[in-house]
Amino acid sequence: MADVQINKEAFVSPVLNSSLAKISLESCLMNASGVHCTQESELQDLIEAKTGAVVSKSCTLEYRAGNPEPRYVTIPYGSINSMGLPNNGIRYYLDFIDGNQKNTAKPIILSIAGLTRKENIELLKTASSAQSLHAIEFNLSCPNIPGKPQTGYDFEESKSILEEAFSICSKPIGVKLPPYFDMAHFEAMAAILDQFPLAYICCVNSIGNGMWIDSAEESTVIKPKSGFGGIGGLFIKPTALANVRMFHKLLPHFNLVGCGGVQNGEDAFQHILCGASVVQIGTTLWEEGTACFDRISQELIDIMTKKGYSTIEDFRGKLREI
Ligand SMILES: Cc1cc2nc3c(=O)[nH]c(=O)nc-3n(C[C@H](O)[C@H](O)[C@H](O)COP(=O)(O)O)c2cc1C
Repeated sequence: MADVQINKEAFVSPVLNSSLAKISLESCLMNASGVHCTQESELQDLIEAKTGAVVSKSCTLEYRAGNPEPRYVTIPYGSINSMGLPNNGIRYYLDFIDGNQKNTAKPIILSIAGLTRKENIELLKTASSAQSLHAIEFNLSCPNIPGKPQTGYDFEESKSILEEAFSICSKPIGVKLPPYFDMAHFEAMAAILDQFPLAYICCVNSIGNGMWIDSAEESTVIKPKSGFGGIGGLFIKPTALANVRMFHKLLPHFNLVGCGGVQNGEDAFQHILCGASVVQIGTTLWEEGTACFDRISQELIDIMTKKGYSTIEDFRGKLREI
């Protein structure tokens, strides 16, 4: 009896510590770019929330107002959006990072998404010279050349822009990828990514060009792009898990960030089982605000406690294949 009591006292509550781009994090949870991270006040909220890191809204060189509203709509099982990259321009985010990084050990990552290749190169050059910036998340899931697919679906362009990126930018670079659906595409992209010293690979961005319809109104639900928009939330969890898993299997030596469909601790647990070191939250953060990090952290800790895991490394990537 006495022994049991001693063991109980010795039990240490699980921790969510992880790392990203070789930086230690106090939690494996963070926001997904584009959600609650456009304005300084929102970024500040994220720094104060139970996040391990923060990523800013994907930025362009100059301020963009984005698309007309409604441009984000909650739908059953998730969200649809066509925001049109509303952001305050790279300088705004670099100034925020410079001003805040000395007050917090939490890394604030800059997400970039130029609308042309030339703009991406300028963004990388500007970010490269930023004093206190830890890492860049290069959003490859953005339209780039008219008439061509987004960069992440254009393998030649992906390789060529990464070559140029690493030749001009001295900061650690992670990539944010669109979802892939075909084995040949997973393999082609993995073979390209393997040629670069990427800080991390983040899977996935929204599933592109989905559609939701209001039957009563017989209409689209978002205004831009004739109602076509990126799909996020629970809808996309199977695709997100599959992408994390596939890249973990093809590139086990890379730091992986899982994103897509995380609503609770169990969803985060599943991303980590697939191989993710960090889990990003988008739609749920939009719906619930930064309190979602308290809830999801506690739910993940509860699962780990029940299973007897003390750190995420105890189960990361260890998905059983039956
Ligand atoms: C309103 C909104 C804006 C987004 N903007 C960006 C963005 O600027 N850059 C980016 O890489 N992803 C952007 N995304 C995609 C999210 O980062 C995320 O990859 C996607 O929503 C899937 O995660 P979720 O299922 O948790 O929402 C945006 C998503 C939403 C809902």
